[in-house]
Amino acid sequence: METPSWFIDELAHAGSEHLDPTYVPTYDDKAGTDPSEDLALLQQLGLHRSHTLVDLGAGTGTFALAAAPLCRRVVAVDVSREMLAVLREKLDRSAIANVESVQGGFLSYDHQGEPADFVYSRHALHHVPDFWKALALVRIAAILKPGGVLYLRDLVYSFNPDEAERAIESWLAGASTRPGIGWTRPELETHLREEYSTFSWLLEPMIERAGFEIRSVQHSGSIYSAYTCVKTG
Ligand SMILES: C[S@@+](CC[C@H](N)C(=O)[O-])C[C@H]1O[C@@H](n2cnc3c(N)ncnc32)[C@H](O)[C@@H]1O
Repeated sequence: METPSWFIDELAHAGSEHLDPTYVPTYDDKAGTDPSEDLALLQQLGLHRSHTLVDLGAGTGTFALAAAPLCRRVVAVDVSREMLAVLREKLDRSAIANVESVQGGFLSYDHQGEPADFVYSRHALHHVPDFWKALALVRIAAILKPGGVLYLRDLVYSFNPDEAERAIESWLAGASTRPGIGWTRPELETHLREEYSTFSWLLEPMIERAGFEIRSVQHSGSIYSAYTCVKTG
C-alpha cells in the first residue's frame, strides 16, 4: 500500500544526532549501556534459544548483539542508516550470524517471517508524537505472537503536570558535565523541547488499547520507565 501523504516522516523526528556520521561513532561511549540486566529479565520472562526477538530503535546494536546468543533470530530495526552502519561493523567483526539489521521505523518496519516472541525497545519510542506512538504500539502488537512480550523502556514522565518544573529541574541537575560520557544539560533540554516523551498515565492506556496487558512497570526516578507487556489477543 502506498504511504499516504499525511504520514509521519520518521527520519525527520529521529534526532539529528542519530543521523550525524560524526556523532554516531561516539554513541556507545556516551550511552555506556550495559544490556545484562535487561537480558536477564527477558530470560526470566522466558526468552529462549528458539525465539525471535525484534529490537525497535536498536541504534548501534548493543542490546541486539548481546541478545543474539540467547535467541534463534534477532532483528535489529532502526530508522538511521548511520546507527545501523555501526551495528553492521560490529557484526562484521563478530562471529554472530543470527542478527539481521533492517532500516525501518516503528511505523514503517515490515516484519517478515514468523511472528516475534519478544519485542524490545529502549529509549526510542519518544521520537514519535503520541498519536503515532499509539499507532506504533498497535503495529508492535501485530509483530508479536499471542502471549508475546513487549519490553519497553523509555523516557516517560511519571510525575503530575503540576510537579513538572521540580521534576525536570531535578533531572537536569544530574546531567553529565562531560559530553563524551552521558548527556549534558543542553542535550537533555533539547530532549524536552524537541522530542515527545509523554506521561506514564497517557502512555499506559495506549499500551493497553494496543492489545497488551501491562504486567509490570518500573519507574526510575520520575523520568525513566520500563514496561513489561504481554500481548493478550
Ligand atoms: C537514544 S537512541 C537508543 C538506541 C538504543 N535502543 C539504545 O538503547 O542504545 C534512539 C534510537 O532510536 C532511533 N529512532 C528514532 N526514531 C525512530 C523511529 N521512528 N523508528 C525506529 N527507530 C527510531 C534513532 O535512530 C536511534 O538509533
